[in-house]
Amino acid sequence: MSACIENIEAFQIEDSRKRPALRVVVHAGGGEGSFDVPSGASTGSREARELRDPDGGLTKAMRCITEEIAPALFGRDAEKQRLIDETLLALDGTPLKERMGGNSLIGVSVAVARAAASARGVPLSTHLRELADIPRSRHAPHLFVNLINGGKHAEGGSSIQEHQIVTLDEDPRAAFVTAEKVERALHELLAEEQRPFTMGDEGGVVFPVTDASTAFEVLFRAVQKAGAEKEVVLGSDMAASSFFGNGTYTLSGSSYDTAQLSEQYHQLIQRYPLTFIEDPFDENDVPAFAAFQAAHPGVVVIGDDLTTTTAAAITEAGTKGAIQAVIIKPNQIGTLSETLAAMQAARVEGVHCIMSHRSGETMDAFIADMAYAYGTLGLKAGAPSARERAVKYQRLIELYGNH
Ligand code: PGA
Ligand code: ZN
Repeated sequence: MSACIENIEAFQIEDSRKRPALRVVVHAGGGEGSFDVPSGASTGSREARELRDPDGGLTKAMRCITEEIAPALFGRDAEKQRLIDETLLALDGTPLKERMGGNSLIGVSVAVARAAASARGVPLSTHLRELADIPRSRHAPHLFVNLINGGKHAEGGSSIQEHQIVTLDEDPRAAFVTAEKVERALHELLAEEQRPFTMGDEGGVVFPVTDASTAFEVLFRAVQKAGAEKEVVLGSDMAASSFFGNGTYTLSGSSYDTAQLSEQYHQLIQRYPLTFIEDPFDENDVPAFAAFQAAHPGVVVIGDDLTTTTAAAITEAGTKGAIQAVIIKPNQIGTLSETLAAMQAARVEGVHCIMSHRSGETMDAFIADMAYAYGTLGLKAGAPSARERAVKYQRLIELYGNH
């Protein structure tokens, strides 16, 4: 059996930041699949580039899809994901996908996988598992829930990009209920303390801080207020490249070198149950990651800008002991096959995968299907009260409810 590609369409929709986003729809073998492509703001320098018009629109990207990609893929078998993705890469022909854009390529690539599953009449997760055999990290993913936003996702807030709770429950439904409970407690706490706040890109709150510990202190008190100390630990995305320049890290008004920044993190770990730390140092400083991970074996150091969902970078970081887990974002690399290769490289190194949203999101929940299909360590999708984030957690709950 094969599922011949019959039609590929591209549309412009809006993402959660009200910027143009790409929707790709593929028809193959009587089945249909689509993908609504998200978009990052605090991007790694080695990420696949987005193709956008000068005004941010997607006319060029849509034209690429309908005029170049579609004719090359008509009649091809959607079940042969690797061959489809190789064709996409050959058509683009650049290392960072700047010609056609990672957004165009991932839109087609994921829509093809969904169309193939639909044509076969199997759940997407079944189809995904047949595309790649990736050992599970865990039964059900931890939810990495970003409740206090900062950095490039928030104006007037902490230099640290994300202050998260990480759920410990095995049951995603119970985990999500806990996340909602802590989020409510946080909002109540801020009201009680008369601390004015705004909302950041990922649905978390934003408020001014005096140093690196303020937001973790507030978050931890919200956890205590919710009575959830045994149900969650804390996590963070430092996104340190965003406050690094000329050899110096500038964090909430203070300047630090690598050793001093490590000491700041060390103090946070002493004071709070901070167990997960993403991108603690600049994306080019693998040795700093490795030294910090070696000194704090009980903390899970995570690569994102460091590794950009790229197999070779993950292998290098894993070999050097720089990380215990890695963020997986399909649009960071540009095709589904390369995403799966990155996940396989991680598991070879004993590095856990965390499926992640982007700060500019759509209502698409593909990352939840990925997290379920491959049993990843985590699903990172922002705050429960933002609907484009909640749909990812809801999809995960639905998948675990059905099995
Ligand atoms: P981005 O942020 O989507 O803006 O890149 C998410 C992250 O850094 O993890
Ligand atoms: Zn990140």
